[in-house]
Amino acid sequence: MFSYRRGRLFMDGVSAAAAADRFGTPLFVYSKRAVAEAFSRIAAAFKKADPIICYAMKANSNRRICGLLAGLGAGAEVVSGGELTRALAAGFPPEKTVFSGVGKTESELSLALKAGILFVIVESEGELDLLEAVARGLGRKAAFAVRLNPGVDAHTHAHVTTGTASTKFGVERPQAFRMYLRAAKSRHLRPLGIHCHIGSQVTTVGPYRRAARAVSVFVADLERKGISLGFLDLGGGMGVSYGRGKALDLAAMARVLDEELASWRGKRLVIEPGRCLTAQAGALITHVLYRKKTTKRDFVVVDAGMSDLIRPALYGAEHPIWRESRRGGGGGLVDVVGPVCETADHLGRGLRLGACAPGDILAVLGAGAYGFSMSSQYNSRPRAAEVLVDGKTARLIRRRETAADLIRGEL
Ligand code: LLP
Repeated sequence: MFSYRRGRLFMDGVSAAAAADRFGTPLFVYSKRAVAEAFSRIAAAFKKADPIICYAMKANSNRRICGLLAGLGAGAEVVSGGELTRALAAGFPPEKTVFSGVGKTESELSLALKAGILFVIVESEGELDLLEAVARGLGRKAAFAVRLNPGVDAHTHAHVTTGTASTKFGVERPQAFRMYLRAAKSRHLRPLGIHCHIGSQVTTVGPYRRAARAVSVFVADLERKGISLGFLDLGGGMGVSYGRGKALDLAAMARVLDEELASWRGKRLVIEPGRCLTAQAGALITHVLYRKKTTKRDFVVVDAGMSDLIRPALYGAEHPIWRESRRGGGGGLVDVVGPVCETADHLGRGLRLGACAPGDILAVLGAGAYGFSMSSQYNSRPRAAEVLVDGKTARLIRRRETAADLIRGEL
């Protein structure tokens, strides 16, 4: 996707400098080809199981990106009424849409039932009660999956670990079991699947093996009680490489799930990849505003910050940063920082960027997932524009916010 041509940075057929000129910065650019290739990669790795691939929209919920994935055959994993509304608008089929999250409201559950999604992923006994009440009110039977907290450490950043009992996600085994038994007797609840998501940016298959084994044992116990489920949803979390470190081996993950869930052929597998479909397909393009030095550090101040890409500030994430022009090497180590009034506001630290002067353009790679979708207007900074690159064409898919957008809705 990103490559240098005659020393200048290109995304597919579009030069980073031309895009920055035309659309301004900070700017998110996404490669259509890269998203499609990422989808094909995961579909190929899981060919044998032929799962429903429910794209975790929180990674990047722009409707053009979602529409692209829907067109390739993906379903959606949503976590709010807002995401569900976006999913339907983007063309994800409701029968391939699942809804997770620990704090769904009555109106969100009602929206999900009316839309006819595949199943609601229930994360507490209280939510099951509410789902039943909402279904009764609508005169329907609500299909659901309990999110099992399998007590598996995914060995990832503490902020994105979700499969252990000290996190808020899902329910532990005995409670989950009780929920299925109780639901089986309800006229308004239909146990249809089981769900498990152990965390994000997982780079080894061991945790998936342990989670799949826990799911498998649980499903066997349920079958002994006469409850048979149609769908095994093993969540997302497949890690990518941000330059350093290895990506999760998708084929190995597929093999592990196949082995651990072998007794459940005939049931449909569901997976919920987010990051691995969009992270590498996007970059954040930014202009250098100033250079400044202290006795301790050499700073490159750019026009994008933690309000655009919060991952470095929030998780200590390290994204590769490339210069638009390859000219002028050398130089010492620099910190790339943004305009936001927080010490944590940085995009990269201790990088060797060469001769980098005000007016230069930088590209923060791996920003296609959890970039724009986590961006904010903090410090009253209008959110960035988004552009989709298709070969040699670049199309605006979200206009840059304006100062008027900042106060819209305030009374
Ligand atoms: N399914 C569920 C239930 C999830 O909670 C998530 C992510 C996914 C699927 C997709 O995970 P993925 O394949 O993208 O790893 N903001 C963080 C990541 C938070 C992920 C939250 N849940 C980051 O920037 O690293």
